[in-house]
Amino acid sequence: MTDVRPRSRTGIAARLLVAMTLVLAVAALAGWLVASALGPTLFHRHMLDAERGPGGMMQHAEQAFASASAVTIAVALAAAVLTALVASTLLARRIGASLGTLSAAAGQVASGRFDVRLDDPGMGTEFDDLADAFNAMAGRLDHDQELRRRLMADVAHELRTPVATIVAYVDALEDGVQDLTPEAVEVLRAQTSRLTRLATDLSAVTQVESGTLVLDRRRVAPRLLVDTAVSAVRARADDAGIALVRRVATQLPVLEVDVDRIGQVLANLLDNAIRHTPAGGTVTVSAERSAAGVRLSVDDTGEGIDEEHLPYVFERFYRADTARDRAHGGSGIGLAIAKALVQAHGGSVSARSAGPGRGSTFAVDLPAPAEPGFIGS
Ligand SMILES: Nc1ncnc2c1ncn2[C@@H]1O[C@H](COP(=O)(O)OP(=O)(O)O)[C@@H](O)[C@H]1O
Ligand SMILES: [Mg+2]
Repeated sequence: MTDVRPRSRTGIAARLLVAMTLVLAVAALAGWLVASALGPTLFHRHMLDAERGPGGMMQHAEQAFASASAVTIAVALAAAVLTALVASTLLARRIGASLGTLSAAAGQVASGRFDVRLDDPGMGTEFDDLADAFNAMAGRLDHDQELRRRLMADVAHELRTPVATIVAYVDALEDGVQDLTPEAVEVLRAQTSRLTRLATDLSAVTQVESGTLVLDRRRVAPRLLVDTAVSAVRARADDAGIALVRRVATQLPVLEVDVDRIGQVLANLLDNAIRHTPAGGTVTVSAERSAAGVRLSVDDTGEGIDEEHLPYVFERFYRADTARDRAHGGSGIGLAIAKALVQAHGGSVSARSAGPGRGSTFAVDLPAPAEPGFIGS
């Protein structure tokens, strides 16, 4: 991917024009040289013949003119053909070489080597653009392959622990080392539900990130999104002894979103907030105006997130406190799903925290539709 030479912005048309102009110029030059070198001598000889020999002056002049033009045209034509031959051979060789490199690289990509990149072909804008597009394609394939590899590794890692626990319990039950106590059943149930959750989350994140997700956008007031999300977790928050507060600004623009998907985003954020906030804490869901549209946020007074983990919490399988978050039953995919869903809406997500023990805030910024509507509240 070295790109040291400055790129020329001339295209193939310009190069062809130059070649043809060169052919014409060489022909003209050859014609002119021949005409100026041969013409006078030919005329001179014919004039001498006219004085001495038979035939009139006129006839000799005509003969002189005819032979001078014939020679001139023949030489000019020969020069033109020769130049055209050289120019088109050179041009064809350059184009052929560039195409050859391209097809060799395409062949490598086809055989699964996604790390090949084309150097600047130096054959005009069309080839430069083609090389850029090719490199972008190879880069994208390379990136996707890397993602796939990482995903497989992550999934294998996630499967190993619950499966190992289940196998150990089943073996122990079979050997009579362990009785089927309510605690054992509880452990088995927790591990199987972790597997179930992993499967659900994986299929969700795969669907969203592959871009095959079709959004069913509808006009909806932000207030409704907040209310629905809050009602869904009201009972859980009460059980956990957490105060649930909703705060919706007045005069918010109407959003045009897939209500279920944004509901899922808020549900994931609320699930985290409740899980990471001890009894006596508060979780606040709010909707307010932002530069581009509306900002929905979920704020808690809980454990908070250390600065070193903040940039990564939206990554798949990332857990700030691995042991504890895993014990909580989290698969570490909730925020990755939330991010992908919000991005599918043209929005963005962000996380803030004043540090461990000082709560966290997750914000979802959604753009308002181009043709705005307002709902007073
Ligand atoms: N409200 C929060 N307070 C503290 N930490 C959080 C909060 N939300 C998310 N996190 C951290 O971010 C990690 C990723 O979250 P998420 O993708 O939802 O995975 P999980 O399945 O663990 O909930 C969590 O494991 C946790 O460490
Ligand atoms: Mg979560």
